[in-house]
Amino acid sequence: MKISIHIISALIACMTFLSGYAQSPSSLKDAAKGKFLIGTALNHNQILGHDTAGIKIIKEHFNAIVAENCMKSQPIHPQRDRYSFSLADKLVEFGEQNDIVITGHTLIWHSQLPRWFCHNEDGSLRSAEELKAIMKEHISTVVGRYKGRIKGWDVVNEAIMEDGSYRKSPFYQILGEEFIPLAFQYTHEADPEAELYYNDYNMWAEGKRNTVVKLIGELRKRGLRIDAVGMQSHMGISKPNLTEYEKSIEAFAAAGVKIMMTEFDMSAIPTERLTADLAEGGADPAKARNPYVDGLPDEAYQRWHSRMEKVWEIIMRHSDDITRVTFWGVCDGDSWLNNFPVRGRTDYALPFDRQHNAKPIVGRLIEMLNSK
Ligand code: XIL
Repeated sequence: MKISIHIISALIACMTFLSGYAQSPSSLKDAAKGKFLIGTALNHNQILGHDTAGIKIIKEHFNAIVAENCMKSQPIHPQRDRYSFSLADKLVEFGEQNDIVITGHTLIWHSQLPRWFCHNEDGSLRSAEELKAIMKEHISTVVGRYKGRIKGWDVVNEAIMEDGSYRKSPFYQILGEEFIPLAFQYTHEADPEAELYYNDYNMWAEGKRNTVVKLIGELRKRGLRIDAVGMQSHMGISKPNLTEYEKSIEAFAAAGVKIMMTEFDMSAIPTERLTADLAEGGADPAKARNPYVDGLPDEAYQRWHSRMEKVWEIIMRHSDDITRVTFWGVCDGDSWLNNFPVRGRTDYALPFDRQHNAKPIVGRLIEMLNSK
């Protein structure tokens, strides 16, 4: 009798343990398994191991990482004959040690670009031949260093405007549209296994959408590799129009590439507020510009939460075409939006708050992922 009671209680303990296992996943990455990767961008405090609370969240919730800054041309290649790899090396080691997929961001971009890259010492633009040689050397050195360790590269970032024209960056001024296929070719030569992506913001814009679709066709026609399009997805609380956003997902999928949300965040600060408050007169411009210094009121959080849900309904609808969703940072305090487009604001753009707590949206996203 005594033995059978022991057996029964052991069985109950065993069943409780197993049912715990059978419960739905409670982290973003586990809930997203089989659908797409869930990523985040790491800043230098996280890469250097200083932000231990942030690192805990990264390990628990994310299975993909990208460098927020340290792989861009300015930080990684500050002078023509000098590279600075120490942070990028650490990021890659962190990914490998924790079984996290690593994306390279970014090779050819007009911003955070050292001046020497496209300009001669006298300030004039470099010749086409010189720029090609520099691009090739930069790409083969950076991509070659992490060959086989980085899953894919944002080869070219932000080259197309909302109206569909090409940005008149120094790359464009020197090489015309040709700089894009060249960058894809050089990256492929440096690591034939790596996936190659074109990445941009405001991808919902019709003109940009159409030119990106054309670009995919052009690269493919030349036999060049392009695996996915990165839709940065820096969202506002009322813009963009989500129907247009979804149309772009559909257009890129129809063009035959995968889609990634590469820099997902959503500002909680209404852009319409500043203009409206100032127009009413008497409003304190500083407060209108930065309204939530002392915390986000419940109604503002609710507005943010339900718009996040709407975007994620779209993401879930297209999950067969989406291979990764990466947030641009971990906690609200980390977000670049605290300094963009206005410096020194208090924004609430990410799924974890300033105290490193998961906001209710995290549970909701896990629920949405589990129910698909
Ligand atoms: C941002 C970083 O988050 C900031 O820390 C930095 O000061 C500027 O760049 N599009 C991109 C990202 O592709 O690399 C940018 O990251 C945000 C917009």
